[in-house]
Amino acid sequence: MTRHFLNLIDAGGDAVAAMLNDALTRKAARAGWTKGRADADAPLAGHVLAMIFEKNSTRTRVSFDMAMRQLGGSAIVMETGSMQLGRGETIADTARVLSRMADAIMLRTDDHAKLEELAEHASVPVLNGLTDQSHPCQIMADLLTVIEHGKALPGLEVAWLGDGNNVLNSIVEAAGLLKFNVRIGVPEGYDSDEGFIERARAGGASIAVYREPDQAVAGADVVVTDTWVSMGQTGAEARIAAMAPFQVNEKLMAAAAPGALFLHCLPAHRGEEVTDGVIEGAQSVVWDEAENRIHAQKSVLRWAFGQL
Ligand code: CP
Ligand code: NVA
Repeated sequence: MTRHFLNLIDAGGDAVAAMLNDALTRKAARAGWTKGRADADAPLAGHVLAMIFEKNSTRTRVSFDMAMRQLGGSAIVMETGSMQLGRGETIADTARVLSRMADAIMLRTDDHAKLEELAEHASVPVLNGLTDQSHPCQIMADLLTVIEHGKALPGLEVAWLGDGNNVLNSIVEAAGLLKFNVRIGVPEGYDSDEGFIERARAGGASIAVYREPDQAVAGADVVVTDTWVSMGQTGAEARIAAMAPFQVNEKLMAAAAPGALFLHCLPAHRGEEVTDGVIEGAQSVVWDEAENRIHAQKSVLRWAFGQL
């Protein structure tokens, strides 16, 4: 059966853990190498990933391209606006055609249903490069970063501050699969998807929602935030006003556990969701997190091709 990676649940907790182990091993094996050099075993030699971007991207675009190169394969990057998809060719037909021409397809889009439709009609693996609902590849990199910095996932207390968005949904999903806890500090009216929260709780994670930022962050091992205005969202002024108390600043970081890590998927808006002092501070691991997009996605790709 074709393996799609639309959400973490498609792989399940054991496969996510296997991917993280693989990523750690492969990253260590190429320490000090130039970034474009292929891994010794080149496990995806002869494979091509077709990427479709309906929204802007820096990290997802470059990390998937570099991941394919390091695995011995290659990538094609397309933007919807310059594709026939942008002038009415159906998702289903696009899926069928790209399945004949490439070995896997990555899509970054708005409505998650578009990704599901692509997967339904594709005969090659389809990967989620971010939708309005979720961003599972980002969370694979986040988990890798947390483990690399010496924190075990089971029982970990992760605090999220700000908007209840796509990145948070995937963190909550990961919590249910890997048994860590999420303390969500979010203003009323900006809550995240209740379905993700219920599934994570059913999986044994504690997911708590707070309206006071210092309660959310109290004693947390990891503090995470993201933009208050995601791509495609309107009402920026109201969102920024509502979320202002949830800014991750030095005072709020001080309420977390000593040695807590700060994560941000980037791009960051300094002075809004995070201060310069925190993102540039000693607890911030955001540059490792960004690099880890490559290493984590290599293992996601290997899983999608049945190698893990
Ligand atoms: N974090 C992330 O997905 O970044 P890009 O939007 O640059 O891909
Ligand atoms: N929540 C952000 C993530 C960007 C990587 C967005 O969807 O715009």
